[in-house]
This record gives sequence, C-alpha cells and structure tokens, in this order.
Amino acid sequence: MEVIIQKDEITATTFVAKIIAKKLKEKPKLVLGLATGRTMEQVYAILAQMHKEEGLDFSLCCTFNLDEYVGLEPDNEDSYHSFMRKNLFNKINIDIRNTHLPNGMAADLAKECADYERLIIATGGIDLQLLGIGSDGHIGFNEPLSALRSRTREKALTPATIKQNGPLFKNPSMMPRRGLTMGVGTILESKQCLLLATGVEKSSMLARAVEGPITSMISASALQLHQHCCVVADEAAASKLQEQDYYRWIFQNEPEWADFRK
Ligand code: GLP
Repeated sequence: MEVIIQKDEITATTFVAKIIAKKLKEKPKLVLGLATGRTMEQVYAILAQMHKEEGLDFSLCCTFNLDEYVGLEPDNEDSYHSFMRKNLFNKINIDIRNTHLPNGMAADLAKECADYERLIIATGGIDLQLLGIGSDGHIGFNEPLSALRSRTREKALTPATIKQNGPLFKNPSMMPRRGLTMGVGTILESKQCLLLATGVEKSSMLARAVEGPITSMISASALQLHQHCCVVADEAAASKLQEQDYYRWIFQNEPEWADFRK
C-alpha cells in the first residue's frame, strides 16, 4: 500500500482525477471501477472538466460501479444509477452501454450478483478501482464482518451507513436498508485500487484501515492485502496516521510520481 498526502481536498481530489486520466490515456479501453458518495462528486467534476477542456476520451472506456441500493429504480433520483448519470456519465463521451451498476430491482438478486461477477470477468477484470471509505470503514457496501473473500451480494446496511447516507435522500426515512455490493474479494481482484479520503471525520477510520490490523470489522483494512493499492488523503484525513513523514518521503522520492509532483 502506498499513502499519498495532499494539502487539501481539492489537491487530493485533483490528484486522483489525474491518476484516472493518465490510466485512460495509456489504455483507452480501460475497465474502470467507480464509487459513489460525496467524496467522489468532486473527482467526477474534474474528470468532466478534463473531458470538456482537454478532450479526455471515455468513448472506449467501460465502467463497473461498486454498489446500488436494493429497491430503487435506476431512474429514482436517489439511486446510484442517477448519481452516476448526473455527476459523470451525462457529462462525458462514454457509451452508456459500457457502464454497469448492479440492479437493485432485479427479481432474483442472487442471480443479478452472480451475473455482475461474470460480466466483470468477461470484460477482462477491473483495471483500476476507485474507492471511498464509509464512516464504519466500509468499501462499497461491505459493512463490518464482510468476509475478506466475499463476492458481489446483497448486504444489510449498518446504522452508521444509514446515518451517513440518509441525509443524501430527499426523504431520509425512505433510504433503503439493503444494498447490492461488489464483495471485498471482488475488489481485491482489481488490478489496482485507488482510495480517496478527505476531511477530518475520515481520519480515525483511515488510520485504522491503513495502519491497524487487517480485520473484517473494517473492510477497507483488507486493502493491505492488495499488491497495488494507493491511498490518497488530504492533510485532515491523514492527520491520525502514525507514519506520515515516511509516506511523504516516499512520495517525494519515487520516480513513479515525478509527473505528479510538479
Ligand atoms: C457510500 C458508498 C461507498 C462510499 C461511501 C463514502 O456508502 N456506498 O462506496 O465509499 O459512501 O461516502 P462519502 O464520500 O459521502 O463520505
């Protein structure tokens, strides 16, 4: 795991958008894993701007989102389908047929999850998986005690997640209590993971995920098992990390990041 600390939210977010843009230029048929949440809104705004101003091309890119609520129609304004269209897909030149999210309205949810897994594999696997971190340490909707080898499945949401995401709903009491989510095992099979955390409210959970023991109580800690995982945090989110100086030193000295230090 590598930790990159950036000054503030906008520099951290821009950094993540630049990594995605670089990958997309290197591989136009990139299979990109996407996330939702407030943290991602800014990343998508920057990618949309890069498309508009610099012609960043998404025409061959294929995407898989981490999760979706159970029981929301894709055109429900609170669904992650809507979130993605509003924040990214409607603003770039992606072929909407190349975008994928689990369908929380499927008649057979177990089959929907198995089909989602098969589709990821048939597409060649995820090249780069973007991740946020929930207040309970979840990635996707992998709530505490999600098996480290779990696959895409239905998951009951925790009170912490309901408290965190409820305010995003027009009517918070209507927030579904269940979601479909890629499993921790699914996420760990991505070729590269990129987790973005901003704000002081993420600092304790980020420190536990990055520097604490690997535990299914904090799904994000499973990323320590990944061979190519990069965590980008702003100063506030990184404030409880013990080894900040070491992480900064690495970033300043790694040739891989030369273009990003400018
Ligand atoms: C939701 C998503 C997660 C995301 C989390 C972070 O729960 N299912 O994938 O990481 O939100 O949300 P925020 O960026 O709003 O803090």
